Amino acid sequence: MEETARIIINGATHDFPVITGTEDEKAIDISTLRGKTSYITLDSGFGNTGACASGITFLDGEKGVLRYRGIPIEELAGESTFIETAYLLIKGELPTQKQLDKFAASFTRHASLHKDMLHFFKGYPAAGHPMGLLSAVVCSLSGYYPELLKTDPTEDEIEIMAAQLLSKVRTIAAYTYRKSVKKPFVPPRADLRYIPNFLHMMFSTAKKEYKINDAVVNALQTLLILHADHEQNCSTSAVRLVGSSWANLYASVSAGVCALWGPLHGGANQEVVEMLEEIRKAKGNVQKFIDKAKDPNGNYRLMGFGHRVYKNYDPRAKIIKQRAHELLAELNIRDPLLDIAVKLEDAVLKDDYFAQRKLYPNVDFYSGLIYKAIGIPTAMFPVMFAIGRMPGWIAHWKEMKADPKTRIGRPRQIYIGPPKKSYVPIQQRQS
Ligand code: CMC
Repeated sequence: MEETARIIINGATHDFPVITGTEDEKAIDISTLRGKTSYITLDSGFGNTGACASGITFLDGEKGVLRYRGIPIEELAGESTFIETAYLLIKGELPTQKQLDKFAASFTRHASLHKDMLHFFKGYPAAGHPMGLLSAVVCSLSGYYPELLKTDPTEDEIEIMAAQLLSKVRTIAAYTYRKSVKKPFVPPRADLRYIPNFLHMMFSTAKKEYKINDAVVNALQTLLILHADHEQNCSTSAVRLVGSSWANLYASVSAGVCALWGPLHGGANQEVVEMLEEIRKAKGNVQKFIDKAKDPNGNYRLMGFGHRVYKNYDPRAKIIKQRAHELLAELNIRDPLLDIAVKLEDAVLKDDYFAQRKLYPNVDFYSGLIYKAIGIPTAMFPVMFAIGRMPGWIAHWKEMKADPKTRIGRPRQIYIGPPKKSYVPIQQRQS
């Protein structure tokens, strides 16, 4: 028997269909609610609201499960590459060797920036936050490729934009860093793979080529794969919402960068390392920070803990924690912040406040320590997240465009402002 849900309003009964997902997740389809009843639903933060049906990523926050196109994240992080994972997310299937080679070759073709774009970097303050520059430059790509700005781009045109964005985001990120340290830009090299090329653009100089270390490449590979998608998170929802107005892919993704910047989302990785640094200055007194986070009169939060969807250990954090230990050991780095992070995590996991609220370390808790060990400055951490999330944003924009059910995203509200009143001319207003 088909499942239905029943809502009774003032004695009148209304039935709504129940939608079931692949993994038996359930939703009540209330798309006809307002038409039938004139009522709307109110769901601050959209904690109970499904905005679409999606075939990209499956997440079970209670069990700590994350899969891209059905494949567990643990397998991808152990065996895949970021480029292959990007292909999987955007195209829906793992590529053959030939398809992967073609995809990777398109990255090489699109790695450089138009020379006029370099003026953006020159005009931006060196101390300005790199995410501001990243979102502006990503959006401004639209000005350089007007032939692709169609309401309904073809599959081939989407593929070109995707390759441009995935490849250029890495160049833009590296140039943003070079600008911040007032060093000349290092152009991409056609003979280097995705991550080595990024490291080359970040750290090579005219006199000295950056020496590629496999442990660093592997750690970054894992991090980028783990960040590649996370279904309807804040930035992906921003991309879908902006794209639903038929805005182009560059503009939509640029909105994703802005949403990601916030400290409650992708900006948390920067905040975590800053918090660990503060704890270090407080002589490693983690309890002081835990108490501050528990104080009902304040709004301080332990960065890198908690998640809207995970009510269990974030599966990404588990892998990243292990990689952080491995990389630091491999590079022979003894970072006191790693010891503080472990101490903080241990204390948090034993604390009732965090247990009751099901707050565990999330993806951002250990990732910053890896970036730091590689020599990437803290302000660049959210930029690293953006490079990683690019395939997810593109995949969702593409899925949204192809879905005949997509309508412009336009939530409603309950008005709580003043009731109707008359305009009072300025001369008659009381001071
Ligand atoms: N430290 C202390 N208390 C917390 C924390 C935290 N990090 N996170 C949530 N809480 C408390 C919160 O105060 C509330 O307590 P109470 O019920 O007494 O009012 C309760 O837990 C529920 O919190 P919420 O704000 O309703 O939860 P949310 O689902 O709206 O927010 C979150 C999720 C990730 C924004 C939040 O946990 C947070 O602010 N964490 C710190 C920032 C962070 O690490 N963000 C990265 C998220 S993972 C990467 C990504 O996908 O963006």
